[in-house]
Amino acid sequence: MNAHMPTLVPELVEPLFTPFKVGASLVLKNRIVLAPCTRNRSELDYAPAKSAINHYASRAAAGLLITEGVVVSQQARGGPALPGIYTASHVARWAEVTDAVHARGGLIFAQLWHLGRMAHSFYSGTQAIAPSAVLDDAARHGERYYDFRHELPLEMTDAQIRETISSFVEAAKNAKTAGFDGIELHAANGYLFDQFLKQHTNRRCDAWGGSAEKRARFLIEVFDACATVLGADRVGVRLSPADYMSEMVHTDGDEDGLKVALAHLHRAAAAYVHTGIEDDSFVPYLRQTATEFLRANFSGTLIANGGYSPASAAQGLRGNKADLYSFGRLFLANSDLVERISHGKQLVPYSRAVYDTMR
Ligand SMILES: Cc1cc2nc3c(=O)[nH]c(=O)nc-3n(C[C@H](O)[C@H](O)[C@H](O)COP(=O)(O)O)c2cc1C
Repeated sequence: MNAHMPTLVPELVEPLFTPFKVGASLVLKNRIVLAPCTRNRSELDYAPAKSAINHYASRAAAGLLITEGVVVSQQARGGPALPGIYTASHVARWAEVTDAVHARGGLIFAQLWHLGRMAHSFYSGTQAIAPSAVLDDAARHGERYYDFRHELPLEMTDAQIRETISSFVEAAKNAKTAGFDGIELHAANGYLFDQFLKQHTNRRCDAWGGSAEKRARFLIEVFDACATVLGADRVGVRLSPADYMSEMVHTDGDEDGLKVALAHLHRAAAAYVHTGIEDDSFVPYLRQTATEFLRANFSGTLIANGGYSPASAAQGLRGNKADLYSFGRLFLANSDLVERISHGKQLVPYSRAVYDTMR
């Protein structure tokens, strides 16, 4: 039995309770990660709500916490109460969060988010921007996202792309000032980075689209710029090889852009790659699951996600399918998830009521 392991851990989940090193200096005390989960709770100036301090501190027994998506600028905004990380007051409240997490021996990364065409002028004050002017299908059919139908986004100019890269760099600096241990770029689930990576939403024929290399360029440039602020081994990336949430549409060859990005992240020794919201099913056009695709194309640290139970995650670790497993809904429903798993206690199932009442 491993010396680091609490003696009470049931055999079924033992692999979750071995430490793991991320990058040069972060030692995670176990393989359990809090998946980024939007809370939609902020102050009027978009500093995270005070309840965020306890929300994250009470989950600090995880090997790593990843915050909810945190918007990098006013332009990036696409929901009613999404916290930001672009003013002094945002940074001050996040510093209270990271202090509380560190006081309990936890590690925490901020997930940096730009919604691209999923942003909305009602929340941001300006028309949404995206690689190309492609409206999402739900909006075309009159459906709403939060309170509004999406608007046709403006195709980003070269200057707007540069400004957006700068917003991420500023956010990375602010995350460092706020005491975060690193950042995760939210390149999954159909938001701005994913819109650059996939052909349906990237119709450009300039330096930012038209080939796999050019579709991957925006993510690579942001990654490299943030790595100069924090070190590459403090920057993780979340990717969606197979999930087409946010009205994304698959086009043959999308995976080639991801492969270019993954090769770069491997060479740069990124902190980790994290599977998006996907489940663990076989994807015909990848001829494997999303997590297998990421494992095959990136040999650094991999965080798997999507519908795992503690037992199935432990089984995945035994089979070396990933290094770490993130839990979203189960961790929202059980702030003491780590303790419950280690003591073999029953878990509270997730329901919408959990989200509505969570602190
Ligand atoms: C309420 C809620 C909010 C979420 N917000 C985010 C988010 O801000 N960023 C993100 O990358 N994923 C977000 N997700 C997706 C989760 O990170 C995770 O991928 C998903 O819940 C599947 O994992 P699970 O089966 O362990 O819950 C959210 C999920 C839920 C349930």
